[in-house]
Amino acid sequence: MTKRKPRRGLPVGFIGLGKYLPEKVVTNHDLERMVETSDDWITTRTGIKERRVVSNGQVTSDLGTCASQMALERAGLDPKDVELIIVATITPDMPFPATSCIVQSKLGAKNAACFDVSAACSGFVHGVTVAKQFVETGTYRNALVIGAETLSTIINWKDRSTCVLFGDGAGAAVMAPVKEKEGILATYLGSAGEYGELLMVPGGGAQFPANQKTISEDLHYIKMNGSEVFKLAVRLMTDSVEKVLKECNLTTEDITCLIPHQANIRIIQAAAERLHFPIEKVYLNLNRYGNMSSASTVTALCEAVEEGRVKKGDLVVLVAFGGGIVWGSCVIRW
Ligand code: ACO
Repeated sequence: MTKRKPRRGLPVGFIGLGKYLPEKVVTNHDLERMVETSDDWITTRTGIKERRVVSNGQVTSDLGTCASQMALERAGLDPKDVELIIVATITPDMPFPATSCIVQSKLGAKNAACFDVSAACSGFVHGVTVAKQFVETGTYRNALVIGAETLSTIINWKDRSTCVLFGDGAGAAVMAPVKEKEGILATYLGSAGEYGELLMVPGGGAQFPANQKTISEDLHYIKMNGSEVFKLAVRLMTDSVEKVLKECNLTTEDITCLIPHQANIRIIQAAAERLHFPIEKVYLNLNRYGNMSSASTVTALCEAVEEGRVKKGDLVVLVAFGGGIVWGSCVIRW
């Protein structure tokens, strides 16, 4: 469907970013001892060298809470002043209550409204798009948007085709009104539900409620058709960037930094090539963290700012895709 031109409200941007990566590092060499794989295969096929994995009973809300504390401190905001919390995750602490409510309690953000969004690896971009509507209309003065995942809990550590790809982590962003012509200039979201079976966790929901049979059939783990997802990811990330830039009358030449979902270096290279965008201007951290689903883009944005790759006035594009299939992008004037 063609998107209608949004009515302009308050300009909304990011006033504080945070991240949390669990301490435990699992390298490709560690994986060589678990499944039949090699550092060389994983590096050349994906670009990933290591990933973080939770330990000592850490759950998704713990990661999200730590990332949020950093983001709130950087924004100079007390948890009690937060008006909206959105957690994007496919690895909630439990089916309900929502992980955002658990984060609210851990943070002591008792004045916030909370809900989760389920948009897999595009979850942060989806969450930002939703939060923007509330802040630009003045409904809420600020919003805390979190991408947090413990994908290690839904990975089959015996399946070499998936276990090498993912990692755990969280990122958080405080959104609030900013100066005119700054902040988020445009967002774009898309979905193609007919491709849902390409990437899913089939068990544990209403269709296949968890029982001994679903567990013996490994239905509680990620199932993926890697090569089909790969092709769609390249096409949809490219298309998504083109559409969101067009909405702002910008071209790739105006962009200082492209921050894509960190699934696979070859997907990112192929998309950058199609966009005629120099790979040196693409921010990458997948070599250190693997694919952290909803936590990937926000953590990458946080690190790009920390490393000075994104400075005041720069134009940044976030783009993500994930299980659903869903995708999304946004343009930000930093
Ligand atoms: N180590 C060694 N060999 C492996 C491994 C491994 N870890 N995994 C697969 N192989 C083997 C396969 O069995 C196959 O062997 P065969 O030819 O004897 O059958 C061979 O390597 C080639 O396998 P392909 O699947 O063709 O490899 P491909 O080049 O497509 O790379 C990969 C696989 C990395 C999964 C790629 O398809 C990919 O990255 N796809 C996108 C995945 C992705 O981004 N998913 C996340 C989406 S976002 C979200 O919402 C979670």
